[in-house]
Amino acid sequence: MTRDTLFSVVSDLALAIQAASAYPENHPRVQELLVLLHRRVQSEASLLGGLNIGFFRDHVVADEFPFVEPNATLIRLIERMREKGIEKILISGGITFGEMKRFVNFLAAGTGSPSEQAWESIVYGRIEGAESGGAVPPGPAPASRPAGFMAGATEVLKNVLVSMVTERKKSGVEEGRDIVSSIMKGFRQEGMLIDRLIRLQGHDDCTVTHSLNVCILVVAQASHIGLPENRVREAGLAALLHDIGMEMIPSGLLSKPDPLDMDEYDIVKRHPAAGAKLLRKIDCGTALPMIVAFEHHIRYDRTGYPKVRTREPLHVASYMTQIADVYDGLRSYRPYQPSVECERTLSIMKEGRGTEFEPRLFDGFVEILS
Ligand SMILES: [Fe+2]
Ligand SMILES: [Fe+2]
Repeated sequence: MTRDTLFSVVSDLALAIQAASAYPENHPRVQELLVLLHRRVQSEASLLGGLNIGFFRDHVVADEFPFVEPNATLIRLIERMREKGIEKILISGGITFGEMKRFVNFLAAGTGSPSEQAWESIVYGRIEGAESGGAVPPGPAPASRPAGFMAGATEVLKNVLVSMVTERKKSGVEEGRDIVSSIMKGFRQEGMLIDRLIRLQGHDDCTVTHSLNVCILVVAQASHIGLPENRVREAGLAALLHDIGMEMIPSGLLSKPDPLDMDEYDIVKRHPAAGAKLLRKIDCGTALPMIVAFEHHIRYDRTGYPKVRTREPLHVASYMTQIADVYDGLRSYRPYQPSVECERTLSIMKEGRGTEFEPRLFDGFVEILS
């Protein structure tokens, strides 16, 4: 699958919509573009197991490839999507010509609410809301509606991180433990709905959402490999606090819409040591949060950062946090990086099995998400 082929599909979509809005429905030009679009969409979506197009701010992303400089037709397409409240479209390979045509006409018309449409092979919605099983209505992203047992967790976590960083408050640790307990309880009661659960959490501070997701993924891994409950709890707390050092990085850097330059990246790379230093001063009742904060960017093969000389194995909780960290980083939308779907994420990560990631833990991680 080449980037260029995907770009052609999106350009075909943009052109078909433009033609459908300018000409009568059965005009030969519209028909011609629709036939071409349908053929391309069918073949690419079948190859990829679904065609995934995202619209973020002024960017279009096809699968995981961003259009660096969208042309005027694509910019118009982005505007149309914004008007409709659509940030993401998934089209499956089984789409019929009739449905493709109806979808293009719907987007071209500029009228009709996305939530009132019924589609067989198309799903669309906000970034975190595009799940299979029908159109996701526009409106607040599901990210702001956490699952029942996790309701309020992101707000609590934000307070925990701030109070620990600014006041070195030990009480934050106890609140962190409560969050981990809720996750463990939720897993027991509702089963391992991990992938769904991590997509439901949302906070405008992306470190908060990320920390909670990583915690969920570490609790799942720790339970999966059969650690006793108290160690699952400890690993969960450590994962929840793994990026606490990020709270000490200037916020402008973290919300920067473009990729970081080398100097900026060097600043971000200080967060493991900064986090560990902070956690050493707070009585967490266990050294594990400090250890994981320090180790979570050191890879299994000892590359990564901070640089360490010892060949001693890292803590198992660090290995689990590292896997969860990369997974959530790839899955989540960042201003400069489109979200990558679960299967695709795992296949990208598979390349790092045994080098970046501890191999047996990585296999376990794939098992729990499959
Ligand atoms: Fe980190
Ligand atoms: Fe992280």
